[in-house]
Parts: sequence; C-alpha cells; structure tokens
Amino acid sequence: MKLRNKMIAINLLIILSILLAVFTIILKTVDNFNIYTIHQYLLNQSNLSQTYLSEYFLLKNNPIEVLSNEIASLEEKLKAQAGCEVSLTGLNVRDPSPLQKSALEGRKAYLITKVGENRSIFLSFPILAQGEIIGSVNYSYSLYQADEMRKGLFIVLVSLFIVASLGSALLSFLFSYRMIKPLEKLTGMANDYSQGNFRVIEDIKTGDEVEKLANSFNEMGRNIKKMITELKEEQEKQKKFLDNVTHEIRTPLTNILGYTDLTQKVDHVAQKDKYLDYISGEGERLLNMVNSLLELSRLKRYELAVELTDTELNNILEQACSLMRDRAEKFGIKVSYDLANVNAIVDGDKIKQVLINLLDNAIKYSEGDKITVRLWKETLVHISVKDNGKGISQSYINSLTEPFYRVDKSRSRKLGGSGLGLSICREIIELHGGEMNINSIEGKGTIVTISLQP
Ligand SMILES: Nc1ncnc2c1ncn2[C@@H]1O[C@H](COP(=O)(O)OP(=O)(O)O)[C@@H](O)[C@H]1O
Ligand SMILES: [Mg+2]
Repeated sequence: MKLRNKMIAINLLIILSILLAVFTIILKTVDNFNIYTIHQYLLNQSNLSQTYLSEYFLLKNNPIEVLSNEIASLEEKLKAQAGCEVSLTGLNVRDPSPLQKSALEGRKAYLITKVGENRSIFLSFPILAQGEIIGSVNYSYSLYQADEMRKGLFIVLVSLFIVASLGSALLSFLFSYRMIKPLEKLTGMANDYSQGNFRVIEDIKTGDEVEKLANSFNEMGRNIKKMITELKEEQEKQKKFLDNVTHEIRTPLTNILGYTDLTQKVDHVAQKDKYLDYISGEGERLLNMVNSLLELSRLKRYELAVELTDTELNNILEQACSLMRDRAEKFGIKVSYDLANVNAIVDGDKIKQVLINLLDNAIKYSEGDKITVRLWKETLVHISVKDNGKGISQSYINSLTEPFYRVDKSRSRKLGGSGLGLSICREIIELHGGEMNINSIEGKGTIVTISLQP
C-alpha cells in the first residue's frame, strides 16, 4: 500500500470513528432525555390518579364492587386526566401481566416496548381504597413523537456523517499530498543519486524534518560532486605524471641505445671514447632521475617523514652556500649571504637539500651574475634566494613546482636537470608545514622565499 493511501486510510479511520462515537452519543442522549421526560410526566399523572382514586373510594362501602361496576366511567375520567390510554383491573384479573402483578403487589412499574411501528411506555400502579389494594391502573403512552424525533435526528446525523466523511477524505488527500510530495521528490533524487546524477533540490521548504533531510541530501550531493571532480583532477595529474616519466626515461634510453650502436660501428678509438662518455653521461642522468622520482614518491607518501630538531638555520644555509660557491664561480656568478642567527625546529639535512636545489637553479638558469641568500625572523622564519638573472615569465610561475616542468627543456636536459627539483623542494617545505613562493620579473631576476614555523 502506498504511503499516501495509508495516511488517508488512517486519517479517515480516526475521524470517522470519532464522528460515529459522537453521533451515537448524541442520538442516545436525546432519546433518553425524551423518554425520561415522558416517564416523569406519567409518574406525576400516576400520583394525581392515585390521589383521585383513594379520595373517590374513601367513603364507599364496598370499594371492590364499586370498582367493577364503574370501571368504564373511571377509565374515561383518568384517561381525560392523564392524556393517555388507561385501563383498570380488579384483584381477580385473569393472566395478569408482570406490570399488573407488580401493581397488585403495591409497586409502581414501567416498561418500554415496541407495539407495531412505534415504541410505547407502559406504567402500572395500585389502586388504594382505605389503605387496601383493590386493583391496578395501567397507563399506555405511545412514544410516536420520540420515535419520529429519533428518526429525524438519525437522518440528519447520517447526512452529516456522509458530508464529514467526504470532507475529511478530501482534506486527508490534500494534506497527504502536501506531506508526500516532498518525499516523492526526495525518492526521485535518491534514485538519480544511485545513477550518478548528483543534482540539488532547492524547492523543498516544508520547515520540518523533511526539509532538513533534503538539505542533508543537497549537502551530500555537493560533497560527492566535489570529491568526484577532485578525484578526476588527481587522476588527470597522475596520468600526466606517468606520461612524463615514460617520456623522460625514454629519451636517455634512446640515446644510450643509439650511441651503443654507433660505438660498435666506429673503429676510431677517440670516437669510441667520446660515445662511451655520452653513454655514461646519459646513464648517470637516468639514475639521477630515477633517484629523484623515488624521493618524490617517498615524500608524497610521507614515508620519509622529516626529522624535526632544533637547528641553527644560519649554519645550515652557510654550509649550502659554501658548497655551491665553486660551481657558481664557474658560471661567473657571485654568491653572497646575509644570515641572521636564527634557530628553528626543522630537518636540517632536508632544508639544506632545498637550498642546494634553489642555488643550483639560480646558477644554471638565471644567466645573471649575483645570487643573494637571506635568513631573517619575523613571526615566521624566512629564507630567500634571489638572483639578478633573466627571470621567469609570469605564465610559467604556477607550473614550476609540477613534476618535470621546465621552462627551457633542452637547456635543463643539457645541464642534467629533469624538472623534479622544485617539486621535491615544495614537498619538503610542505612537510614542515611551511610555504614556498616564487616571484620573478622578466629581465630583472627571480626570488624564491620560504616561510617556516620557528
Ligand atoms: N632562478 C631561476 N631562473 C630562471 N629559471 C629558473 C630558475 N629556477 C628555476 N627555473 C626554471 O624552472 C624549471 C624547473 O626547475 P626544477 O624543478 O629545479 O627542474 P630542473 O632544475 O631539473 O630543470 C627549470 O628548468 C628552469 O627552467
Ligand atoms: Mg633544479
């Protein structure tokens, strides 16, 4: 059974049973009241009749005989008085009814029973003459009017019942429609969800639990949509990453195979040596790349969790600068630094690795003649590596930390780069809970700034 039909059925059941009970009570009460009134009237009349009869027989010598002689005229008299059918009986009546028996035993008794179409009320009481019971008076009053009233009332109540049934059926239908419609919408929505359509419903404004449920659904839909988009983006990134890895590994491998082939073909020793040099260079580049990839992968999986200790950062940075100074000089670049005495809770080796990477980049790619390293502390600890070289176009800046991204591929490759350096730097800094920002002005130079928690 549908929920809506259930609601209508339950509503009708409740309303109609209440109506039925109320109407039955009304009908009964009105009828009882009518009968009570008539009964009271007959009781009053019986008192009057009894008084009249005892006064009538008070001075008579033989009341029993007088009664049997004047029974017809007395009946007429009492009938006129009481306004109902009256019959009198003597003591020796044949087959007395239970009512008559009660009366002859000195009690008043009444009975309501159906005679023909209508009910009648019968009342019997004793005739007292000089303290003795000499017979009974029997009233018979037709309840025709009460019956008519009961019939009329019954018809009115049945009509009311029918109208109320129809009215409440209609109201129940409208009410259940209002209640069920939002639920049906939610069901449709849930079906759509199960088929991957995460739509949002805005028009359920019932102000109750259903609206709350709809809001939860909407929230869920939005979150799932967001998650799916993020997953797709991540998948796209991974695919790109894999494409890059394959491509980057293929180039040195092709070179190695090419030069191996050539080496076998030439006889000239000097030429052979040159090719072997190329082969070893490419092999080294391949190994470096694989090592970098491995490191990046470990960093991303948080496997190589950084070991944080209180470190004198100025020492670490000074070591990195000294290490790179000779290499810089070969490129005609002067490295200078301005390092405040700053301690921070970091992994010293990893920070050194980052700095070496940044210096290496500035030396290889900037084409400037000056690199400045700075270390200072505000709320956070800041490290910057600045060069005065050719800079990087703004359109490339955001992609620099993506794996394998290089502005000038051939130059990077020639200098042994693979485009993984800045990705590794960013991972390391993020594992420290810090930030790395790259700013550059073309023709003026590049500055990479790192901010770390002290
Ligand atoms: N200081 C710099 N000046 C100019 N270009 C730079 C600088 N630092 C990095 N780049 C560019 O960013 C690219 C990515 O650097 P990186 O991730 O370290 O890879 P790799 O050094 O292996 O090429 C470099 O190939 C280079 O084109
Ligand atoms: Mg690099």
